[in-house]
Amino acid sequence: MFEFVKCGENTYYLKSFANVGVYYLGNNEVILIDSGDHKKSVADLDYHLSERNWKVKMIINTHSHIDHITGNKFFTEKYGCDVYASEIECVLTEEPNIEGLFYFNAIPIRRLPNGKLTDKGVKTKLLTKDVLPEGFEILSLPGHNFNMIGIKTPDDVWFIGDSILMKETFDSYKVPFFLNINESIETAKMLPSVKGKLFVPSHAPESKDITELALFNAQRLTELKEYFYSICDGRSFEEIFAKADEDFGMKLTPDKYAKSGLTIKSHLQALINEGRITAVIERSRLVYKKVNQ
Ligand SMILES: [Fe+2]
Repeated sequence: MFEFVKCGENTYYLKSFANVGVYYLGNNEVILIDSGDHKKSVADLDYHLSERNWKVKMIINTHSHIDHITGNKFFTEKYGCDVYASEIECVLTEEPNIEGLFYFNAIPIRRLPNGKLTDKGVKTKLLTKDVLPEGFEILSLPGHNFNMIGIKTPDDVWFIGDSILMKETFDSYKVPFFLNINESIETAKMLPSVKGKLFVPSHAPESKDITELALFNAQRLTELKEYFYSICDGRSFEEIFAKADEDFGMKLTPDKYAKSGLTIKSHLQALINEGRITAVIERSRLVYKKVNQ
């Protein structure tokens, strides 16, 4: 059973692969921040809520990745609650199969990740400040996905989605998923200035001070981007990927190949946007070249 942790007067979270925030509103009603990453976490969250006779009034998704929205269908069917997300994430939350298209540039080889992708999402509304009960705050956390957000509960507890990952995640994934590298670096550098009593990242332990981990994320992403700058000159995307696998030992599976491939392209795209490299077609291959500066 995943642990149900109390981390503020009325703030709790389900401690699982993707932590789920729970805020008790009173009158046996709660707001969920994300909704679980797989069947077991959804079932455990349902158990903890039912045990207290708490009903879900609203779900807010920090972003549309499948490990944050898996419980949307279950809880909306059980409680008739509304689901909210920010612009763009709203559309992707409603149509989760689009996520697979990003990774494979086609209909996925199989559903991602590991068969967990749902056939259809649930109706998702646009999150605005007016929708939130008093005392909640929204913070834009761009980079990891199109338009990820953090949510602060009235207890001064921030749920910050996948804006920062653990050192262990960087070590094991080698090139962990971030969609826009430069935005992710800026978000990580900005996070230490955010005021709050407690920070709960989705995939890292809660912390009163996230400065060290946030700056580590900014540094590691910068190092990765510079690594791709150092190896990309005259190489095609496939050659760059093969070189990274040779250097890092990425233990690729088709799913990991797809996700890591997208992230490597994101690093290369960041370098193109900075004007440091360019991409040209040579013998039917997309080849990256350093720009003489
Ligand atoms: Fe994510």
